Amino acid sequence: MTNRRRFLQYGVAGAAVLVPGLRADAATLPSRVPTDPFCDLPNWEDPLSSKVQLVAAQAAEGVPLKLPTVLQPTVVDGVDTYQVAAGEADVEILTGSTSRVLAYNGMFPGPTIHAQVGRPVALELTNEFNEDIVLHLHGTQTDEESDGSPVFPVPPGTSKVYRYPNEQRAMTTWYHDHAMMTSARHVWRGLAGLYLLRDPAEDALGLPAGDRDLPLFMADKAFDANGALAPHGSGIGDTITVNGTVGAYHEVQATSYRLRLINGSNGRPFRIGLRRGVMTQVSSDQGLLPRPVVLKELTLVASERADVIVDFTRVGVGNSLELLALGSFGAPNVPLVRFDVTVAGPASSLVPRALAPAPDLPEPTGERVVQLGFTGGAWTLDGKRFDPARIDQTVQMGATETWRFVNGPNGDHPMHLHAVAFQVLSRNGQPVPENERGWKDTVNVPNNGDAVVKVRYDGFPGAFMYHCHILEHEDHDMMAQFEMVAAP
Ligand code: C2O
Ligand code: CU
Ligand code: CU
Repeated sequence: MTNRRRFLQYGVAGAAVLVPGLRADAATLPSRVPTDPFCDLPNWEDPLSSKVQLVAAQAAEGVPLKLPTVLQPTVVDGVDTYQVAAGEADVEILTGSTSRVLAYNGMFPGPTIHAQVGRPVALELTNEFNEDIVLHLHGTQTDEESDGSPVFPVPPGTSKVYRYPNEQRAMTTWYHDHAMMTSARHVWRGLAGLYLLRDPAEDALGLPAGDRDLPLFMADKAFDANGALAPHGSGIGDTITVNGTVGAYHEVQATSYRLRLINGSNGRPFRIGLRRGVMTQVSSDQGLLPRPVVLKELTLVASERADVIVDFTRVGVGNSLELLALGSFGAPNVPLVRFDVTVAGPASSLVPRALAPAPDLPEPTGERVVQLGFTGGAWTLDGKRFDPARIDQTVQMGATETWRFVNGPNGDHPMHLHAVAFQVLSRNGQPVPENERGWKDTVNVPNNGDAVVKVRYDGFPGAFMYHCHILEHEDHDMMAQFEMVAAP
């Protein structure tokens, strides 16, 4: 089909000419853009072809992609209240085998919570396991009691209510264990689930919704000879699960979908791409990007999220398109999900050219430098091991500052701050790619390099964690605390 005919196909009332692609002259820009994965790449044929030899063979069979159960609340004193129990359970991850996991409500991943901005949620966690656990909702702004940090453990046989005001931007996020020195093992064994925070403004953008809005929770695991989840070792697995499925396929209509990609691995970064064509990223960790970004591939380090629009229209009924974890360091590409286009669908959603205001923070009034290292047999921040009794940074509510994370020679570290959202200013002195210029809560700090973020201290006063999100590093001992105090 020629470009001209496609313009007409995508035409919307009021747009004289609908220019595909994001490179067009600003004067002629339409307010909405199509997401056809092939529309903007003259040489779209197999941009990744040299790397995809294994895909066809591995994706020949497959199992249906699991969709995490959506948890229904009960309304207690006017607040949506969710009951979550953490304990051991037997679940089927590899087809035909069961694994003894540590799970929320007996599921891996745990149940999904759908929340609305401005509508508070209470989550009552019951610990049915025999060790302390903690539930942390990643990326949320709460008081310190509800933040789910390791200094507030939930002992075996007890319950705790976490309160989430949801007074923040809509985002795709997840909750996971954060117990003192055991979070890596607990999350490896399954303590993780999704939390999708929406708002009416985002709903009004007309992005794909309903069953065309698909969360994909990705985590690497390892399995023993019987197909059961292997005990936590290094935290790096050789098998990638998506929503707790290995070798998944999913039947789709020939139209556009929103894929909510969450890296729930203990430490593994993912490079993600389609077997052919491009995806359009619309949001990152803390919600919508300023504008959609067309990408052949994107990188998600541990705990990062990206929502992308993928359009299956021109894949065509009867064909498939794989979402891949792209190989690196000599490893082959691995299919994450094979999307089988089985039926025609409605017209693809057009993505608004402007999604959300770009971060606009005041001039910083200070800079904090945090040195990442390996000292005395432990991963450290500023040469120190974690001490729950020590406050490492004291900051004033309402102030804006930069944090510069300086790395050593022992590998990348994805640094995460609780309780605030930040803007990434640079990495190794260079501006970051456009898809990292929205609101973030985790930033990759490269080996022997640095990353600078700009933070406004808003939300709630109290002490909160900052740490590397490679959970094995976080546990031993790459974590520290900053305290937000009211201005004098
Ligand atoms: Cu997902 Cu302390 O973090
Ligand atoms: Cu967090
Ligand atoms: Cu680390």
